[in-house]
Amino acid sequence: MARLKVTVVGAGNVGGTAAQRLAEKNAYDVVLVDIAPGMPQGKALDMTQAGPVCGFDSRVIGTNSYDETAGSAVAIITSGIPRKPGMSRDELLATNAKIVTGVVRELVKRSPEIILVLVTNPLDAMTYVAHKVSGLPKQRVLGMAGVLDSARFRSFIAEALNVPATDVQAMVLGGHGDTMVPLLKHTTVKGRSITELLPKDKLTALVKRTQDGGAEIVNLLKTGSAFYAPSAAAVDMVEAILKDQKRVLPCAVKCDGEYGIDGLFVGVPAKLGRNGVEGIEQYELSPDEKTALAASAQAVKELCAAVDRLL
Ligand code: LAC
Repeated sequence: MARLKVTVVGAGNVGGTAAQRLAEKNAYDVVLVDIAPGMPQGKALDMTQAGPVCGFDSRVIGTNSYDETAGSAVAIITSGIPRKPGMSRDELLATNAKIVTGVVRELVKRSPEIILVLVTNPLDAMTYVAHKVSGLPKQRVLGMAGVLDSARFRSFIAEALNVPATDVQAMVLGGHGDTMVPLLKHTTVKGRSITELLPKDKLTALVKRTQDGGAEIVNLLKTGSAFYAPSAAAVDMVEAILKDQKRVLPCAVKCDGEYGIDGLFVGVPAKLGRNGVEGIEQYELSPDEKTALAASAQAVKELCAAVDRLL
């Protein structure tokens, strides 16, 4: 039986690791695209040769052309320049908007039914760019941020409480930046609210560390940004879509009135299935969370206005 094709654009750390994770699922044909001659081909060959050891026989193709992407069900787009220490995600806007525009056009031309999962920063604005230039319905364009930000928050909480991270549930909404909004009422450990388990000052510190989670890693790595958790988060979204799981994950999706946000891609709880974004769940927010989400949406709006001036 033919396997569904998943394309990963950008064979750097995030894209290469995402392709590896997908290959290891033993369920998809994986196409890894990059402009660097030989690089995606080399990585694809290397991944394929891990198959006999790891027990998968996924087809992994590395290429500098988009022709092999034809008929993709989903693409993860990671291409663009990453942050350097001291840079904000927003400083990447102009360069990455151009790169994402080119990539999206090439993909959609060959795979009109494709679902696009954006990873390139600044995330919310790049998702907006992809939607705008692709002409795809909003259900088929989404950005990866909330799953990563929630995973960071979950792992910090797990460490603080000495519990398994998989027992911690969290939902981080808003833009992928300093204004992201962890929902504390919906953060639980085996059903118990986090506000019962950690003192307020400790919780505030963990929220701050989550908001700065990407920068913490950029500062340590010095030559790039995080990739193990970001690639895991993107692949989780792809699986929710292709396995039609109907899971509710925090993703950057187009809001048309939900949460009082109009016409912007911002992180909200989205139900993912084979059609892409199949709905937005309305969680009850505290007054503070509502204010914080509105501020986060405003920050995204300003970036999208800058995108409109560029494109
Ligand atoms: C991060 C980058 C991927 O948060 O935005 O690590």
